[in-house]
Amino acid sequence: MQSEDQVHLLAALDAAKSRYIELNARSKSLHEEAVNVLPGGNTRTILHTDPFPIYMKSGRAYQVTSEEGNTYTDMAGEFTAALYGHSHPTILSAMNDVIQNVGMNIGATTTQERLFAREICKRFQLDRMRLTNSGTEANLHALAAARKFTGKKKVVTFSGGYHGGVLMFSGGKPAPNNVDIDEWIVVKYNDLDAAKEAIQSPGVAAVLVEGMQGSNGCICGTSEFLHGIQRAASDAGVLFILDEVMTSRISDGGLARLQGLKPDLKTFGKYLGGGLAFGAFGGRADIMAGFDPRLIGSISHSGTFNNNTLVTHVGYIGLTTVFTPETAKAFTEAGNTFREQLNEVTNDTRIYFTGIGTLLTAHFLAKGPRHIECADDVEEIPELKTLFWLEMLEAGFWVTLRGFIAIILEMPQSELERFVQAVQSFISRHRDLVVLDL
Ligand SMILES: Cc1ncc(COP(=O)(O)O)c(C=O)c1O
Repeated sequence: MQSEDQVHLLAALDAAKSRYIELNARSKSLHEEAVNVLPGGNTRTILHTDPFPIYMKSGRAYQVTSEEGNTYTDMAGEFTAALYGHSHPTILSAMNDVIQNVGMNIGATTTQERLFAREICKRFQLDRMRLTNSGTEANLHALAAARKFTGKKKVVTFSGGYHGGVLMFSGGKPAPNNVDIDEWIVVKYNDLDAAKEAIQSPGVAAVLVEGMQGSNGCICGTSEFLHGIQRAASDAGVLFILDEVMTSRISDGGLARLQGLKPDLKTFGKYLGGGLAFGAFGGRADIMAGFDPRLIGSISHSGTFNNNTLVTHVGYIGLTTVFTPETAKAFTEAGNTFREQLNEVTNDTRIYFTGIGTLLTAHFLAKGPRHIECADDVEEIPELKTLFWLEMLEAGFWVTLRGFIAIILEMPQSELERFVQAVQSFISRHRDLVVLDL
């Protein structure tokens, strides 16, 4: 970017920030109070934005409303967990039914956990599965299963990968607050040769991978890479764990079905709990037998809320009556069309949308080409990303600062069209900033 364009960019950003502060005065004062009890006023790092976050009061269907009373079309979809939107009538009635007729926290084995597990196993081709309270937990327990089964400790994973709050990897290494900090071999994403070498090294129990790196910008693993990992793991006696926490909504059987993969274990989370805290992991019966409490030497997998009545009923109803396999397929097709439309209107610009189906991320490339296989290789312009975020908010779209979008199931087509138009207007307003010199 030329230096005069940089000056223009910073001026546009300053002006947009001033408008943000002016429009969101109540959020600003709520934030000033929150910093007295929460560090930085925050209890979920991803939601922090400068100079302060907009505080949301409520959500309904595909919209959210701020404390200022401004209503936004929700393009963030609670980072994939709000697939059913906010208070979907079927979900709401299932919840009410549990509260009125079943009761919460009944501290015993229930019929419903079996039904829910059976449905998840059928949909995602698992022999056995177990429930957890989050995707993070699901990955931690899947790793415990792999370690028990193989008797080994090391895990191969990928830079830019996100597998939970204590399972994050960037810059080729684990984050400082990760668990098992010395047990990771962190490899470049989509680099099959490096992955094979790591998988074949001594002491490796498992390879843990996202089929599409969601948090890292919806970067898709190539088919060759994912199948290559699967083969290399099988040859080396290393377990192949596919993290489907974000991608299980892609197709009628997750990304594994779409790519024709047969992982030893898979992990799940997000929308599958119907909007409630949820996680699950499962796969081969011989590996999952490590948790069978009837067997001597099995490992314990505890969690007060693992089989809570709300999630087992509500998640089941959502999966069997709302997000059916047919709906999942059609939804993914609609998402692919939306991404293609966005990439058409951004065609000769720095703005480039990656992803699969209803999960996508806007990138703001410092230089071409418009193609990303590994986020580490790509330089972006953070100020342009922030300007886009601020101006999309002004256009009435609740988007994430990182450019991540997760479409809500009942998002009207007209809102998706309006979003494409808003992107087009952004480009017209800032033509000199977004044009890509190849
Ligand atoms: C791929 C992936 N794995 C695991 C997790 C962790 O899930 P949770 O936030 O439920 O712990 C996430 C959350 O964003 C994720 O995207």
